[in-house]
Amino acid sequence: MWRLCIILGFFTLTTWGVDRSNFKTCEQSAFCRRNRRMQPGKSPFAASTSKAVQIDSENIALDLVNTLNQKEFTLYLKAYEGPSIRVMIDESDRSPFKRYVALPALQDRITQAPVTITSQGEEKMEASFGKNKEHRLVIFSDPFKIEVYSGETLVITANGRGLMKFEHYREREQKKADVEAEVHQEQTQEEDATKVSYNERGEKIVDGEAKKVEDGDPPEDGAKAAVDEPSAAETDGEDLDGAWEETFRAHTDSKERGPMSVGMDFTFEGFDFIYGLPEHADKFALSPTKGKTDPYRLYNLDVFEYETYNPMALYGAVPYMMAHNEKHTVAMLYLNPSETWVDIESPNGGMLSSMVGFVSNQKQESKRETHWFSETGILDIFFMVGPTPQDVAKQYSGITGVTPLPPLFSLAYHQSRWNYNDQDDVRDVDAGFDRHDIPYDVIWLDIEHTQGKRYFTWDPVRFSEPEQMITNLTAKGRRMVTIIDPHIKRDMNYFIHSEASANGFYIKDKSGVDYDGWCWPGSSSYLDFFNPAVRDFWADKFALDQYKGSTEQLFTWNDMNEPSVFNGPEVTMQKDCKHFGNLEHRDVHNMYGLMLHMATYEGHLRRSNKKLRPFVLTRSFFAGSQRYGAVWTGDNMAKWDHLRITIPMLLSLSVSGITFVGADVSGFFGNPDHEMTTRWYQMATWQPFFRGHAHHDTKRREPWLFDETTNSIVKDQLRMRYSMLPLWYTLFYENEQQAQPPMRPLWWNFPEDTEAFGLDDSHLVGDTLLVRPVLEQGATSVNIYFPGKDTVWYDISTRQKFLGGKTLVQPVTIHSIPVFQRGGSILFTKERVRRCSALQARDPYTLTVALDKAGTFANGTVYMDDEVSFDYRKRDLIYALAEYRQGVLSYQLLVGPGKFETPAWVERINIVGLTELPTKITDGEKLLEFSHSEHTVTIRKPAFHMDSQWSLKLHF
Ligand code: NOJ
Repeated sequence: MWRLCIILGFFTLTTWGVDRSNFKTCEQSAFCRRNRRMQPGKSPFAASTSKAVQIDSENIALDLVNTLNQKEFTLYLKAYEGPSIRVMIDESDRSPFKRYVALPALQDRITQAPVTITSQGEEKMEASFGKNKEHRLVIFSDPFKIEVYSGETLVITANGRGLMKFEHYREREQKKADVEAEVHQEQTQEEDATKVSYNERGEKIVDGEAKKVEDGDPPEDGAKAAVDEPSAAETDGEDLDGAWEETFRAHTDSKERGPMSVGMDFTFEGFDFIYGLPEHADKFALSPTKGKTDPYRLYNLDVFEYETYNPMALYGAVPYMMAHNEKHTVAMLYLNPSETWVDIESPNGGMLSSMVGFVSNQKQESKRETHWFSETGILDIFFMVGPTPQDVAKQYSGITGVTPLPPLFSLAYHQSRWNYNDQDDVRDVDAGFDRHDIPYDVIWLDIEHTQGKRYFTWDPVRFSEPEQMITNLTAKGRRMVTIIDPHIKRDMNYFIHSEASANGFYIKDKSGVDYDGWCWPGSSSYLDFFNPAVRDFWADKFALDQYKGSTEQLFTWNDMNEPSVFNGPEVTMQKDCKHFGNLEHRDVHNMYGLMLHMATYEGHLRRSNKKLRPFVLTRSFFAGSQRYGAVWTGDNMAKWDHLRITIPMLLSLSVSGITFVGADVSGFFGNPDHEMTTRWYQMATWQPFFRGHAHHDTKRREPWLFDETTNSIVKDQLRMRYSMLPLWYTLFYENEQQAQPPMRPLWWNFPEDTEAFGLDDSHLVGDTLLVRPVLEQGATSVNIYFPGKDTVWYDISTRQKFLGGKTLVQPVTIHSIPVFQRGGSILFTKERVRRCSALQARDPYTLTVALDKAGTFANGTVYMDDEVSFDYRKRDLIYALAEYRQGVLSYQLLVGPGKFETPAWVERINIVGLTELPTKITDGEKLLEFSHSEHTVTIRKPAFHMDSQWSLKLHF
């Protein structure tokens, strides 16, 4: 009975949602307070522009000084191929604690390029960069600010509002004086708070009377106002609030290195739309925060039951922002892996006015003002000058790298749950897919498959024959993934723990002993992946003779790598923990997940002697994580707002270089009803990483457990995904070559179409498909915006044609969501129904040629290789272009085939959008049979080979 009461109590008393009190607000974070309360004004920093030194053709250096306290700093300028330009600012002398530079985020082969001083004087200096020196960076001396020009256009100003902060190194002995200053400052604030406050209209109340606010924006409430007043200590450059110690709930953070925060403002000039900054469950176009909410927070955290539409931190962080207008796209990487907050202000008063463009009949100035600040580290900023989205993506990939082409199976459907209970369960689920004729490629095992949450082991009873279990799957062309988390059970009989502790491989707590935190296994230690020897140790653990029961067809899921620590502050590790290289955890927190992911990827490479492509999914990430595989958006919920937020979340990741992304289908927590399940599968069919996954408290969700209609729609969707695998595979090959995200916003390919800039409800797959999922419960119609006024779009199921540049309301049923092929594109699909992707390898292709508005042109690419190995890097592949021009359809190889062989052929060609019907179709001399319907001409079995050139002609 008591159990029943507790259970009922749980369901009646609990509402879903994050417990916010577990996580800091800006007000509860000392460095956030210190930075956020700075007011725009004259920067105390001055640059010696006349003394800038051209060190060599690729490096420039100059001095900076804080005129308030004469502390010295050095600024380095470097340029990279792409081009992009980097500004690094560090303290000129910071012994004994060097600040951390986040090199592991950068790719190995980052190539520097010339940057040249073109003029210099007392007031400013200019440097040029780019292939033809066509871009410029101007540094103004006093007050110090930087202007970045893309060609002739000013695109970004840094420190234009004078918000740069760089808390220099100071000796601990000063603590007493600093504390006194702090007390004085608090007193000043208290006094201010008693005398000055604000009423609801934002009017200042001085000694009980309302006065007009003269200085700056009215604060949102009285309490904030008191804190926002510049402190006495700040006015002489020394705001030391919370600099040496800070307590949050039961945790005290000792900061033996004192205040180290850095910050700067960046204004995107001429832009109303900025994007990126994952990971937040928020809209795609980033919203102003100043005076409205907390800043966007970047601090990798395991947030239980996260909520949508807010700037709270989540599992990963990419300090990357992209700005876009009709003429220009630019971006910025603020390379700092410590806790970071970003405030956004819009002089136009927000998104609405910026979309309308006019306020009070007056065109407002377009710009987005951003203010970034981090707890430690250096100021290390890369500017990508565009001018197109494509250029920006390439420039950024030159710095942090691209997603390597994933093995094909990983683009197919994955079936997961916490947990598949035992090997019989695995066998039954696998057989269920066959029995119901539903394709799937990978089955996943969560933490319960291990022996007591000891990763790299198997539960001896429930998974007594792991190798056999995997081989049974592999025999059918399928694979398995097991979870491997970074917390290690503190059990001396567990080989990972005994070896790691003997070698000193764990992160240390502040007293220098192995850190002990609570996670799934209970008392756990955390491997220090910042130590190369630990990464080496970890990578070797994937060797088949070390990971007993594994095979080369077993892949990996890295979870809980923020790292998640159940009894730690904000469910993570204490910031004063110690890492290899004299680092504090606070210096590198946001990169911990990346370092684990990197080591696991290396493990996969090693176990096949670098022959096979790894597949590793991670929850936590940082800039550069794309180089090691896929990312998912963590523990979402089976709720409509979570379904909706998936699109902006995945777009934010995609434009920030993390392109192999997905969300748990159909919500991790809770039990989705049939409608939500249907809508979620329909949506995820068109997203890069496609995995069904659910919490152990949810009802089982294998597709055949739904009612007949849902089952049949889900089955159709999965078959649709499999037919589209050639498209996904081609897009991921192109992603590796050209850095373009497979899932992308509409404006990526329609950069001048302002209507598309604020959309959260639709996206493109490559430049070929427009997808508009159904995101509302009970919807019977949806608004669809068709981008591009000179573009036509064809419904992929009815072939009905729609003109771009318009929003149309279209009816929808539960059976499908609207998906359109762009006129001017050629789509390659595989239409035969198979059990998994491996069985499609030799299957023939269907081409759908969707003609442009004039009905005369279309083109498209297709990519093929052995689907698993790195041989494609030796050019053993086929990358081909099909092009339709004035009645002639031709197919030619752009790369390959090298040693790659394929029997694949063309079984059907559909041509959509012809203005008149052909009288005959020929291939050389031979007549080809064709049929036609209202919108489509279909050529059946032309039997062309995919590994050689061919063409056909339509005669009118
Ligand atoms: C948290 C992950 O986000 C979730 O997907 C997983 O099922 C649980 N950890 C258990 O491993």
